[in-house]
Amino acid sequence: MPDLSHEISYADGKIITHTADGVGVITFNNPDKRNAMSLEMWEGFGEALTSLRDDDAVRVVILRGAGGKAFVSGADISQFEKTRHNAAASEEYGKRSAAQRALLADYPKPTIACIQGFCLGGGMQVAMLADIRIAAQSSQFGIPAARLGIAYGFDGLRHLVSLVGPSWARLLMYTGIRIDAAEALRIGLIERMVPDDQLWGETMLIAETISTNAPLAIKAAKITIAQVLKDESGRDMDAIKTIGTACMDSADFREGRQAFMEKRKPQFSGK
Ligand code: COA
Repeated sequence: MPDLSHEISYADGKIITHTADGVGVITFNNPDKRNAMSLEMWEGFGEALTSLRDDDAVRVVILRGAGGKAFVSGADISQFEKTRHNAAASEEYGKRSAAQRALLADYPKPTIACIQGFCLGGGMQVAMLADIRIAAQSSQFGIPAARLGIAYGFDGLRHLVSLVGPSWARLLMYTGIRIDAAEALRIGLIERMVPDDQLWGETMLIAETISTNAPLAIKAAKITIAQVLKDESGRDMDAIKTIGTACMDSADFREGRQAFMEKRKPQFSGK
């Protein structure tokens, strides 16, 4: 397992990044509040995403929560009285946090949410924007917007509906209930459930597998799947063609073929 020692901190240490061996890790680090996200944390999260995006050595990014009790317990409700108390304030608040989530939505590298403990509200938004969700058996999921009187926005609901379908989305939203990891797995909200003590190892294994595969082939899959999810009228078929051409003309494709024929492990460069 790589030594994740290269540490950079954002938002006064409440967001931390580590990098090693092609894997970047972003940790939500506010365990006393179950990693509830303040606006400063949303902004730090955006800075962390940008820095790992621009680091050529990073091929895949893992998102996780510190403290073992939560991935992210949602937006920091203690800030709401000042920053989200009515529609106008809420719009401004929404813009500032949505700008950071947009970075994740359009992220050019694969992302994995590694979920332990509570994954609620805005935490669900983050997890649903990641490409893949791996969760510990004891995790719990929910969107308590109806308990707080919050209108959960279009993007969050679009992702929820695309993962679990409209009926489960309605049940979760109307009741605000929390569901456990087994149920989340069954309805398609998470891709894999593992025993708590194996979560990090399993997540790293998937991240390392991704980071040793051909970056252009992964990029092609990521771009194409994103276009599949759009309405037909909004699809960028040229982007699919461009990445397809780059991939099939790449040195890595040559390396992949040769390594297979020579019965050895390929060494991909992303070119
Ligand atoms: N915003 C602000 N503070 C939060 C928070 C949030 N989203 N989630 C937890 N906290 C704080 C609690 O207020 C508490 O602070 P305190 O120690 O000063 O009293 C601390 O984190 C620990 O929370 P606690 O409720 O004691 O822990 P728990 O393990 O029993 O329950 C939760 C954890 C996450 C289930 C519970 O705190 C909760 O329901 N939080 C709100 C979740 C929510 O509604 N999220 C959507 C926001 S849009």
